[in-house]
Amino acid sequence: MTAAVGESGGLEVGGVDLCALAADLGTPLFVYDEAHLRARCQEARRAWGDGVAYATKAFLCRAMAALACEEGLWLDVSTGGELHVALSAGVPADRLVMHGNNKSDDELRAAITAPVARIVVDSFDELDRLEHLAAAGPVPPTVLLRVTPGVEAHTHEYVRTGQDDTKFGFGLASGAADEAMARARRLEAAGLVRLAGAHAHIGSQIFLLDSYDAEVEVLGAWFAGLGLEELCLGGGLGVPYVGGEQAPSLTEWAARAKAACARVGIPGHVRVTAEPGRSIVAAAAITLYTVGTIKELPGIRTYVSVDGGMSDNPRPVLYGSGYEAFLPRSPDADRPRVVTIVGKHCESGDLLVADACVPSDTRVGDVLATPVTGAYGHSMASNYNKVPRPPVVFVAGGSHRVVVRRETFDDLVRLDA
Ligand code: LLP
Repeated sequence: MTAAVGESGGLEVGGVDLCALAADLGTPLFVYDEAHLRARCQEARRAWGDGVAYATKAFLCRAMAALACEEGLWLDVSTGGELHVALSAGVPADRLVMHGNNKSDDELRAAITAPVARIVVDSFDELDRLEHLAAAGPVPPTVLLRVTPGVEAHTHEYVRTGQDDTKFGFGLASGAADEAMARARRLEAAGLVRLAGAHAHIGSQIFLLDSYDAEVEVLGAWFAGLGLEELCLGGGLGVPYVGGEQAPSLTEWAARAKAACARVGIPGHVRVTAEPGRSIVAAAAITLYTVGTIKELPGIRTYVSVDGGMSDNPRPVLYGSGYEAFLPRSPDADRPRVVTIVGKHCESGDLLVADACVPSDTRVGDVLATPVTGAYGHSMASNYNKVPRPPVVFVAGGSHRVVVRRETFDDLVRLDA
């Protein structure tokens, strides 16, 4: 959001020159535009209202948890680990939503005793566990039931979750959702839980709002008659990664979903919420690498190797995701040269950008940037080949703060017994 060409002709974000930052902190480096993060959180809060949750799986560290909380969002956590990070960042438990298709007893107990704002119940086994653990907390846990609407979102099959064949939630078509509702109501009658409503999530990186219309149409008919107070429509709003792509804004998404809810007869007093992840953080960040080798294979292709790879961004390998690349030293330069940007890992699949367009004078030693790496990059990073994970830096108002430091070689042996 704050990207601009500085006096030197190089790219600045948050008033900080990216090449200078790379020289100072080293590469690879995740750089987040703090103003952009805050603007997206504020937009989500305005568009959806109270109770909209940031899906922390997209990117989580204490600074991010605190930022989302400061901007008025709740936080969706899906494991004991995410719960721990959010709590240790000082996020009040009553702003947390606990997810997970296979919560352990320990995870459930932690959520119940915190006590978190919502537990999204995903299975009959979890209802059994809740029945035994519910009394461990200071109050009966407030629950939503996760329902599978049987909607196929237009996105990659690995990140589709709303269809009937899924490990998540209670199927609507099979009658499992009705059975789960009946059981949850019995638990409520016994004073063990407070049943607030239902939840669904149809997938991720969704560009077409029609998918949400379909979700609401299927859910609405069922939900409207239940007399419950809350309906969470999940996350999944897509973001553009490469030139030519377009996605609706958070505002458009919320308006369309709320209109669909009204159309299908969901009463106006029902709290309709969502839990965006990618659309809050993806475009806020850029990854900086250093070009280490350039190999021209005549008649085949040119490989440009950088000092990171599938360990800091596994998305191209996992989902075939596309990215752009450019040189922060000359962000406006023409990019006529087509190269394949790869990492430093010991396998041919270690690909970052298959057909990247870069300036013709791209050379060894250049800082190279891939934008839109703020979601599911750092959060899915690994130590493959014992490559230390990159640091995360927030930039704003002409200065930077390191919010996650770079891993060291000592960190790589820290857990060895
Ligand atoms: N709510 C639930 C229950 C979810 O499972 C997810 C994402 C979200 C919200 C947030 O979805 P978002 O707004 O970020 O699309 N690693 C994949 C994405 C996996 C999404 C998992 N669940 C990727 O890199 O594309």
